[in-house]
Amino acid sequence: MKLMKFFSHEKCLDSFILNFLGFQVLRYVLGKLIFWFKYNFFPIDKNNIKKFNQILSSGFDSKSNFLSDNDFNKLKEEFFLAIDNSIDEKQGENISIQMNEGLEYKTLYINETFKDKYPTLFWFKNHSFIKDYFVTCEQKKDYDLYCRLEKILVKNDNTEDPNKDYHFDTFHNTFKCWLFIDKVEKSQGPFRYLPNSNKFSLKRLFFEWKESIKYSLDKKVNASFRTNKNYKNKLDKKSVLMQVTENTLVMANTHGLHRRGDASIGTTRYAIQFWTRENPFKLILNN
Ligand SMILES: [Fe+2]
Repeated sequence: MKLMKFFSHEKCLDSFILNFLGFQVLRYVLGKLIFWFKYNFFPIDKNNIKKFNQILSSGFDSKSNFLSDNDFNKLKEEFFLAIDNSIDEKQGENISIQMNEGLEYKTLYINETFKDKYPTLFWFKNHSFIKDYFVTCEQKKDYDLYCRLEKILVKNDNTEDPNKDYHFDTFHNTFKCWLFIDKVEKSQGPFRYLPNSNKFSLKRLFFEWKESIKYSLDKKVNASFRTNKNYKNKLDKKSVLMQVTENTLVMANTHGLHRRGDASIGTTRYAIQFWTRENPFKLILNN
């Protein structure tokens, strides 16, 4: 049964023996190989590969002035109406408000009910550039896409937030993007990404082996493997800080090393986030 999970998109196998024998490493290598094979010999949307070359090679990219002023202004207006009215409108399971000592994290999924109430947000969910981005980067035409509005208010900058530690989301290529509704300055804790950390390396291979063993011995270890906190300052010097203006689309392969930035108390980030989490082993079957 545990062996069947080998071919799943589960972040890490829950078996000391399998992880010690290097099965997590094998999943990492196979995931990379399958993607490389598909991308080089049977690429989808050849024309778009140039368009997304930067993210496919370095692992991140951004596009300022993403929407026309007119579309962005309509979107922004609907964003604030939707996120502020979401409780009154009884969005039910679509809304999530996580409150802890440090953050108020409010998310709202875009669904069919948006079609009449918030037509620009509904239209944006199916934006052609974003579709192309996921098709080309995932190398799949058929994938599950998630999309939600996000408001992150920082109430205390001293509390533990695991997303502020450098981490790899998972062992295979996986993609996200955010359209920022408001500018993100340094004090607002912009997203940080280490360029080229999405690429295959022996260092990462060994890291996957070591962390998978730790995970199988201690369930408190996060399955999105974290790097040692002692390296945080060093990595901060090498990583790219995504300080952006409003209406900027930030794209990232979060299989690479990244973290949430350090935001000051009282600051808020507003964004629309899209992401996929596909099974890397189905790449050849699911076109
Ligand atoms: Fe992450």
